[in-house]
Amino acid sequence: MNPLNHVAIIMDGNGRWGIKNKNSRNAGHKAGLKTVEKIINHSIKNKIKFLTLYAFSTENWKRPKKEITFLFQLLETFLLKRLENLNNQDIKLKIIGIKKFSKKLNQLLTLAEKKTSNNKSLQINLALNYGSKYELVDAFKKLRKNKDKISEKNINKYLQTKDIPDPDLLIRTGNTKRLSNFLLWQLAYSEIFFEKKLWPDFNEKDFNKILKKYKLIKRNFGNI
Ligand code: IPE
Ligand code: IPE
Ligand code: MG
Repeated sequence: MNPLNHVAIIMDGNGRWGIKNKNSRNAGHKAGLKTVEKIINHSIKNKIKFLTLYAFSTENWKRPKKEITFLFQLLETFLLKRLENLNNQDIKLKIIGIKKFSKKLNQLLTLAEKKTSNNKSLQINLALNYGSKYELVDAFKKLRKNKDKISEKNINKYLQTKDIPDPDLLIRTGNTKRLSNFLLWQLAYSEIFFEKKLWPDFNEKDFNKILKKYKLIKRNFGNI
């Protein structure tokens, strides 16, 4: 059976769920947060060490201001409410992405990272204002600036995911088969599952089904 260390998730389908069920995209984002809670708890239960959640891409700034404001407000409220709890659950929070938000949110994110930095049971990497192409360009710039030799090891050193093993498993909900600028380098050998359900409808049972299938896959990494 394959070991499972790191699960990455593209949490897609909130907007469509919201329109279908409550005639509001934002209501879908709110409902999606409940799935986040479920998946965090289930990850701890399954002794997964790293959970990377794609919450906002560098391209998501194209959305209407009203939706963007709502999303960040939702995140702020969640962190304020859940920070103590994350700590009690021994969860370490790390933000990957360009940390340029409102002063208040920047401070809150830094505080959350600092406060949880010694926790050990599960590391949650929250991909916020994250774009894989930006991350790679930034890494190459740092390589050049430091006159480092170009190598896989040195590229890894300058990625936001340094110290994080590559995802074993990628799940994208929302019935869409694309990567949307997520972890392009890190997903080189990940097992990929596209899930039809919209993120707010995704639950522990669906997650379990994927975990079971993943465990039985023959992972070759180029070998036979
Ligand atoms: C994903 O859900 C969440 C974010 C991008 C914040 P969407 O908002 O993309 O939902 P759909 O794809 O429009 O249904
Ligand atoms: C990817 O979903 C980003 C997140 C889930 C945060 P999108 O809904 O933004 O992706 P595209 O634009 O449809 O590819
Ligand atoms: Mg989408």
